[in-house]
Amino acid sequence: MNPETNPYVPAAGSRPPALVGRDPELEAFSVALSRLGKGIHARGMILDGIRGVGKTVLLREFNYIAREKGWITSGVVECDESDDLRRIVAKLCHRALRDLSKRKAAADAVRRAFGVLKAFTLALEDDGKWRLNIDFDAVKGVADSGDPEVDLVELLGEVGKATSRHGDGVLLLLDEMQFLSKADLGMLSMAMHQVSQEVLPVLLAGAGLPQLPLMLKENKLYAERLFTFRSIGSLRPAHAAKALAVPAARENVSYAKDALAYILEQSQGYPYFLQQWGEAVWNEAETSPICMADALAAHELVTDELDRRFFRDRYDTATEAERIYMAAMANLGPGSHSSAEIAARMGLTVKGSSVRRDGLLKKGLVYSRVDTELDFTVPQFAAFIKRIHPFDERQRPRRGRPPRKV
Ligand SMILES: Nc1ncnc2c1ncn2[C@@H]1O[C@H](COP(=O)(O)OP(=O)(O)O)[C@@H](O)[C@H]1O
Ligand SMILES: [Mg+2]
Repeated sequence: MNPETNPYVPAAGSRPPALVGRDPELEAFSVALSRLGKGIHARGMILDGIRGVGKTVLLREFNYIAREKGWITSGVVECDESDDLRRIVAKLCHRALRDLSKRKAAADAVRRAFGVLKAFTLALEDDGKWRLNIDFDAVKGVADSGDPEVDLVELLGEVGKATSRHGDGVLLLLDEMQFLSKADLGMLSMAMHQVSQEVLPVLLAGAGLPQLPLMLKENKLYAERLFTFRSIGSLRPAHAAKALAVPAARENVSYAKDALAYILEQSQGYPYFLQQWGEAVWNEAETSPICMADALAAHELVTDELDRRFFRDRYDTATEAERIYMAAMANLGPGSHSSAEIAARMGLTVKGSSVRRDGLLKKGLVYSRVDTELDFTVPQFAAFIKRIHPFDERQRPRRGRPPRKV
């Protein structure tokens, strides 16, 4: 088929040609917006799931829905390992205020909020590399005490007040939230709680890896009251079929039943894989309907592309010792495994392998929902690891006494 009209988009955060299977989340979010817009308490939403299931896409969709409803939004801000919560919140507020000032002439409230934000950023100990461009004078005495808990609440409160005068409210969107420390997540919840007590129209929606809900809930009592938690994963077969067939039908292309079934089975309904399969099989097929032979021919291409664009980058972030840990984990078979099992596979103690495990957790390559059970954050990662890094039994130290030193 003509690659120029290929509708599929295997790319992180890119809106799919058909966004399917996420109506419950979209509806719940719309309801929360409407409630808060009317001054009624509403919960923000926290999405969790492994990589490639469509969390970022959903956050962007939330952004779009909120704008359509006249809300001010920050757009999606991504956390990373080295980020400090106060900088992230400053960035969110900065982007939201810029959105606000674009819509209205900078009214007093906006000017004041920018001034408070400036004071907030000046109060952060600075390494000189980080700053926001704010063309307003700092407003002294608010959000600049240096006590992060107090300052965050005051800053968010100011932004809430500024926006409530000019729009329905402000939506803050935070991605990769698992990179925040538990302490920072606790502080963020506390600040959002204070803001919600004043029923200021500030809504936070966020996303992260599967450990995120636990990280949030562990720390503060507020989490359950503040957020609706939704785990998202692969698509049900009927939805997965739609994700492929609907965009094709727009170009008058269809799939043979067996070809579609084969792709659904291979992709296990994971959104990223569906896009990758769709793209490859479209380019492979000469005519409609896309048939089984096309799907089989696309298989190698899909494997290559996924290795290159989805798996490899993530694998490359691991140290050699961490790679051996992942190889041992993959060798244990599908599903989650305890640190003890994995350590034993390598002939190590849990303590002796904890540096590797913690490294992988920190890099977001593995997660644990219950304290000790570990699984990969990337779908079908075990199969990839087995292919490129088979676990070598010889890496296991021999049983019995260590060799005598000579
Ligand atoms: N509901 C969906 N239906 C079909 N494809 C989707 C859906 N959600 C996301 N995708 C596709 O999946 C891929 C991964 O989406 P992304 O939001 O980056 O996932 P995550 O943030 O969970 O890693 C993208 O190519 C996107 O177009
Ligand atoms: Mg994402």
